[in-house]
Amino acid sequence: MRLLSLFDGISCGMLAIQRAGIPVENYDAFEIDKYAVTVSKNNFPDIVHHGNVFDGDFTKFKGYDLLLGGSPCTYWSIAKRGRETTSDGVGVKLFMEYVRALYESECKYFLYENNYSIHKNIKAFISEQLGVEPIMINSALVSGQQRKRCYWTNIPNITQPEDKCIKLEDVLEKGISVNAEQTGKSRTLKAQYSNTSLANAARKDNLAATMVAEPIRIGQFGNGGLGERIYSVHGKSVSLKANGGGGGAKTGLYKLDLPDGDYIIRKLTPVEAERLQTLPDNYTEGISNTQRYKCIGNGWTVDVITHILKGLK
Ligand SMILES: C[S@@+](CC[C@H](N)C(=O)[O-])C[C@H]1O[C@@H](n2cnc3c(N)ncnc32)[C@H](O)[C@@H]1O
Repeated sequence: MRLLSLFDGISCGMLAIQRAGIPVENYDAFEIDKYAVTVSKNNFPDIVHHGNVFDGDFTKFKGYDLLLGGSPCTYWSIAKRGRETTSDGVGVKLFMEYVRALYESECKYFLYENNYSIHKNIKAFISEQLGVEPIMINSALVSGQQRKRCYWTNIPNITQPEDKCIKLEDVLEKGISVNAEQTGKSRTLKAQYSNTSLANAARKDNLAATMVAEPIRIGQFGNGGLGERIYSVHGKSVSLKANGGGGGAKTGLYKLDLPDGDYIIRKLTPVEAERLQTLPDNYTEGISNTQRYKCIGNGWTVDVITHILKGLK
């Protein structure tokens, strides 16, 4: 199979196609982040890198089989103040490069991904351009992480993946030390949430999400934004974010139960973050931890993509 991958990040698409058991003849990638490209090259020296999508002549890839891509959701994200909700912003410009690639390459199959929380106008615009409606899959079905994403594809017969019932505690590394500051913070925390409100919210979603969406919120620090909530290890992790630098809050801090009933709170390690995305351990090794968190948070949950690509068989 010949693949063209736009906004390739750390080449999660390559991992997924391999896991799906489909032989790869060519894999051509467009990506501008030098750290992501380093990770890609460290793991897959045969991937051909082409840089910026705006410079791409995609007619060179005529006859390729599959176009992959998830353009940056930064401009559309619900977390962004003043996010774009119409089809004339930067987010759409980037997405339209994917559409151009689809027309120029004439790839038979395509898979486009973006955040579930983007505005309905943007979702409708993407659906109109690609000619298919999105399928929402929550990574929680295949990993210990809540991560709702929309997938637009013409790969046939996509169903929801089976629930593997993985919890955060299943991916934690043993014996990770915690610095005094982080431990100190934990003493001032109070349990402020039960899981009831989240479970109720989940019930409003589709059935598959309801079955898995049972994180247990147990407290918060700072302003209590999404990244500052403390989740129990007996539930699912909050969705990993791309802005991994600048402290644990962005990556998620977790209550770890100790035998004496006390608890500590710490940041996820890069390996734990990799496991939440179903990446191999140390897949992103070789760049700084800050960049690792960023690349992982930007990336795909590999086993969700594998599940979809198996439809090609
Ligand atoms: C949401 S991430 C996609 C990550 C990827 N799906 C993965 O599994 O790692 C979007 C990526 O688009 C890249 N990007 C942004 N603008 C780009 C451009 N003009 N050309 C190529 N890549 C770009 C970013 O650096 C980022 O890695």
